[in-house]
Amino acid sequence: MTRWFLPQDTIPSAWFNITPHLPKPIDPPLHPATRQPIGPDDLAPLFPMALIGQEVATEPWIDIPGEVLDILRLWRPTPLVRATRLEQALGTPARIYYKDESVSPAGSHKPNTAVAQAFYNKREGISRLSTETGAGQWGTALAFACAQFDLDLKVYMVRASYDQKPYRRVAIETWGGEVVPSPVDEPDHPGSLGSAISDAVRDCVAREDTHYALGSVLNHVLLHQTVIGLEAKEQLELAGERLPDVVIAPCGGGSNLGGLAFPFVPDAGVRLLAVEPVSCPTLTQGRFEYDFGDTAGFTPLLPMYTLGHDFVPPSIHAGGLRYHGDSPQVSALVRDGRMEAVAYPQGKVFDAAVQFARVEGKIAAPEAAHAVRAAIDEALAAKETGEEKVILFNYCGHGFLDLSAYDDYLHGRLLDEQG
Ligand SMILES: Cc1ncc(COP(=O)(O)O)c(C=O)c1O
Repeated sequence: MTRWFLPQDTIPSAWFNITPHLPKPIDPPLHPATRQPIGPDDLAPLFPMALIGQEVATEPWIDIPGEVLDILRLWRPTPLVRATRLEQALGTPARIYYKDESVSPAGSHKPNTAVAQAFYNKREGISRLSTETGAGQWGTALAFACAQFDLDLKVYMVRASYDQKPYRRVAIETWGGEVVPSPVDEPDHPGSLGSAISDAVRDCVAREDTHYALGSVLNHVLLHQTVIGLEAKEQLELAGERLPDVVIAPCGGGSNLGGLAFPFVPDAGVRLLAVEPVSCPTLTQGRFEYDFGDTAGFTPLLPMYTLGHDFVPPSIHAGGLRYHGDSPQVSALVRDGRMEAVAYPQGKVFDAAVQFARVEGKIAAPEAAHAVRAAIDEALAAKETGEEKVILFNYCGHGFLDLSAYDDYLHGRLLDEQG
């Protein structure tokens, strides 16, 4: 295992905007009632103007405010690690690198955007945020970020995760957030990200002091995550690599994938691969059409791959990948052939996660384990052909609060028919 660190003063000072690099422009979001393109005023009850501006920004780079950089420096730049022991175990000629986003305070990539969102809301006079969380990673990240800017936070947590992952709730509460299971009005329902978003939006629009924060899907969220790919590019150069042959990341709503992959979009010849669960196969089996971001139909309609906003995926362990839709930017790249997608059942994902843990020592979040699976399969394919390819994947979170998933896997309780 070899690591490449960047000095702290080389943390990116601007975010990379994918918009000018997309093969075709993206169709605008539509108002949920009128089905006409929405304007900034329609979004103003939900988001601060700075983020609404970033949603539609066309300039290639957007400066990261100093106050945001100061907090990102608590854990950024994150290490780029070469998984040499995994390479040896697989007997592959491929060189496998991963970007370790698990070193953030919340244990995942999510604080990269949480800090920026909390900052812009605070600057525009907001004192409270509402949000949804699936596996709890986004909720913990936003709770950490709100603590930095002295904002109140209410988190609607998908009930299946609330019951399965009590420690994320404790983390949210430790950072000062309040957390309730969702859907709030259906106590026997396992919930979904779509219904938790409805709860959080309903909360926000009812109060003057509150804005809503989304942890994925939207353009500004993916923009904030591009620090991952920008750092990885520099670190690969330090490692003596030109460019990766393939960039791999799990995809729930697309934020860690966009964050790692977008800076490589202009580099012709670099394959980009999204990995999702077969039980929630948005990119591989969904339809590209306008759909709501939430179950109740409160949010604008977005042009994206979707399984339908009323789709409720089975309660798989990768809670963060249980979303019916996907980022419009990621969806456009897949539709236009610039990005590929693959889906795996969770048994195969945990086979890879346990192998990775035993040779590299890292216990991956179930979401991150999807990327581990695909990276191993790419490395095994390289072994067949003898190709010395360079594989880069996003280790977007650790699994220390997901050990019940490993327990199920190790003791034969993982249900593969659920994906
Ligand atoms: C560790 C981790 N990875 C991936 C995801 C999926 O979200 P996204 O596709 O926005 O990165 C989540 C979502 O909660 C997550 O917690």
